[in-house]
Amino acid sequence: MSDLDGKVILITGGAGGIGTASCQVLAGAGAKLVISDIAVEAGQAIADAICSKGGEAIFMRADLSSEEAIEALVDRTVSHFGRIDGAFNNAGLEQHNTSIDQLSLAQWNAVMQIDLTAVFLCIKHQARAMLANGGGAIVNTASGLGQIAIPNAGEYVAAKHGVIGVTRAAAADFGAKGIRVNAILPGIVRTPMIERLSQDPAFSGHIDGLRKRHMMQRFAEPTEIGEAARWLLSDRASFVNGIALAVDGGALAN
Ligand SMILES: NC(=O)c1ccc[n+]([C@@H]2O[C@H](COP(=O)([O-])OP(=O)(O)OC[C@H]3O[C@@H](n4cnc5c(N)ncnc54)[C@H](O)[C@@H]3O)[C@@H](O)[C@H]2O)c1
Repeated sequence: MSDLDGKVILITGGAGGIGTASCQVLAGAGAKLVISDIAVEAGQAIADAICSKGGEAIFMRADLSSEEAIEALVDRTVSHFGRIDGAFNNAGLEQHNTSIDQLSLAQWNAVMQIDLTAVFLCIKHQARAMLANGGGAIVNTASGLGQIAIPNAGEYVAAKHGVIGVTRAAAADFGAKGIRVNAILPGIVRTPMIERLSQDPAFSGHIDGLRKRHMMQRFAEPTEIGEAARWLLSDRASFVNGIALAVDGGALAN
């Protein structure tokens, strides 16, 4: 028996770098997945690939800027699989690579909406459904930038600090009611987000410094984040609640 056998898990940002790898890890551990993203073709392809290997997964498009879409996503999870045991709130947008004095309110709001407000809304509706079936586990993707800052990333740094805050707040709200809520703080991970950021000198100028800060002198592979999510979503982490788990090769310890 595998550690997520039969557990119904919803993942957002499932078509992205960390999301795709995490879908494979979670399905490999026996989870039944609801995979969500705005990238329909890529998301459907991941669900199809999991099903073709004998796993259980469906894809549902949901734009996390809408509370109605988030509520519908949770409802579909429960109507399709009968329950929701876990959620990996992983979707996110990168910063605009601009210092705060040049950052527009629209840029600030765009990142706060997806990287923080959507995490709150996901937790809200997931917790309602989990309370109805006796509990569950929620994992939110924050970042090392939830604890430290780099230049030209004010809206992202603020949002990711907020993800750690709402994770702890939710852990306090639901800890006695059977729902554990934790955050993962990835270091730099090889994904399309980092490829996009690296095109901009305002970010790429920091890449060497960031690599050196990772004590292991390399960046993460996306599956290494998925493995941490697998553990936190499983009953093996039954007394782990409200933590900000760095999965960063020692970057935050440096
Ligand atoms: N890559 C890194 O180095 C790194 C480091 C720390 C934290 N993170 C965080 O990890 C998470 C995953 O990042 P990634 O590197 O895999 O990025 P990615 O860009 O490869 O994937 C992000 C996914 O989120 C989806 N998404 C964006 N806006 C959405 C919306 N409105 N509704 C639904 N889905 C939406 C995208 O379509 C994409 O598939 C993010 O929260 C990111 O902030 C990444």
